[in-house]
Amino acid sequence: MKFFPFAIALAASSFLCAAGLNDDQRIAKGAAASSALLQKLGGEVKKNMEASGPVKTLEFCSMNALPMTEQVGKEHGTKIQRLSLKNRNPLNAATGEDKALLEQWETMLKNGQSLPSHELKKLSSSQSAYYKPILINNEACLKCHGDIASGSPLGKAIATTYPEDKALGYKMGDLRGMVKVEISE
Ligand code: HEC
Repeated sequence: MKFFPFAIALAASSFLCAAGLNDDQRIAKGAAASSALLQKLGGEVKKNMEASGPVKTLEFCSMNALPMTEQVGKEHGTKIQRLSLKNRNPLNAATGEDKALLEQWETMLKNGQSLPSHELKKLSSSQSAYYKPILINNEACLKCHGDIASGSPLGKAIATTYPEDKALGYKMGDLRGMVKVEISE
């Protein structure tokens, strides 16, 4: 019977561990998932742009960006989204609280404040979201999100693939959107 209290303590501690991550661990998980995604997408865009130019890369993104996002999410045991106020893909439109956070960040930028590198929000007792701003921080982004002549081959390809596109006219330093990582631990 000597071991009995010890066994109870052990059972209790493993129960506590199973209760999930602390906020630092959630942030680490969100950061790992979002940087894996941004690295993967950035690498694929760069490779495709160099090999076959913007029109083909646009087509590549339209077919692969969402499946790749889902895949990286699975690898990290999370759900990842890229969301924007001025989205190209209708599936990436920000809504609800996500939209409100993007609007808050827009206001901060307008007022000359710098954005947080990330935010962690509690969605429910068992769900959190890690958010990371995506800025236009590279001239290469402007090739497809800057000022593009509507009569150019790329302008026409964008209009055909995304008739409701809002993701043009960006400048360096603009807020392009956010990565959202849902964490249910
Ligand atoms: C070859 C053209 C191309 C380049 C270059 C490009 N994008 Fe995009 N981007 C797209 C397309 C097409 C989509 C819509 C498909 C998708 O990703 O879901 C998109 C979607 C996005 C989205 C998701 C929100 C939305 O509007 O649908 C973000 C965020 C984004 N791009 C950021 C960037 C950033 C930051 C860069 C520079 C590092 C960049 N893009 C470079 C073509 C491009």
